Amino acid sequence: MESLIKKFLQQNRHWACEKQHDDPAYFEKLAEGQKPVALLVGCSDSRVSPSLVLGGDLGELFIHRNIANVISHSDLNFLSVMQYAVEVLEIQHIIVKGHYGCGGVKAAMQDEAYGLIDNWLVNIKDVIEQHQSELDQILDGQERFNRLVEINVEVQIENLKHTSVYRNAIKAGRKLYLHGWVYDFSTGLIKVLKTDEPGVWEDVLATEPECTALS
Ligand code: CO
Repeated sequence: MESLIKKFLQQNRHWACEKQHDDPAYFEKLAEGQKPVALLVGCSDSRVSPSLVLGGDLGELFIHRNIANVISHSDLNFLSVMQYAVEVLEIQHIIVKGHYGCGGVKAAMQDEAYGLIDNWLVNIKDVIEQHQSELDQILDGQERFNRLVEINVEVQIENLKHTSVYRNAIKAGRKLYLHGWVYDFSTGLIKVLKTDEPGVWEDVLATEPECTALS
């Protein structure tokens, strides 16, 4: 079998060559600096890569990923990313992008021991505990799992609002738009759960996309 690493390196060289061909100044412009408009917090799952799913170009998204897209007030890694994004890069949007079928959320639900990661999943177990009565009312296991994925995104957005970085930005008169999304890897589509920016992009969701399969 062909080495996957070999394939990655071949693809990288091909991609760099194509980019350079399409726009000879492409890499020079990127080297000058970045001005992304959004910070995206997503899950590390290999099936939900934000740049691929959103068709984003380099320089557009500042991304932080961890298991189950958790925003933890004791996570210096995330807080540093957020501070840099908000205060230095001056991003305007923060997107929390969860996904249905999230293994991290499922593991927290099943309450099995996985070792070190159990400490991280305590964040999700807290979410379960806080929303136990709502979850208990959902009899279908799959539906309950899906709802927990959604609740987790909603809770992480609330956690965002409690960070000192967010509070300081608001105090300083900045407007930060928060968005809660859930990606469905069985359809490839994103569902918008929450947004601070109503009325701006909803028409996109109501229109058929331009797609070869539909023409
Ligand atoms: Co996940």
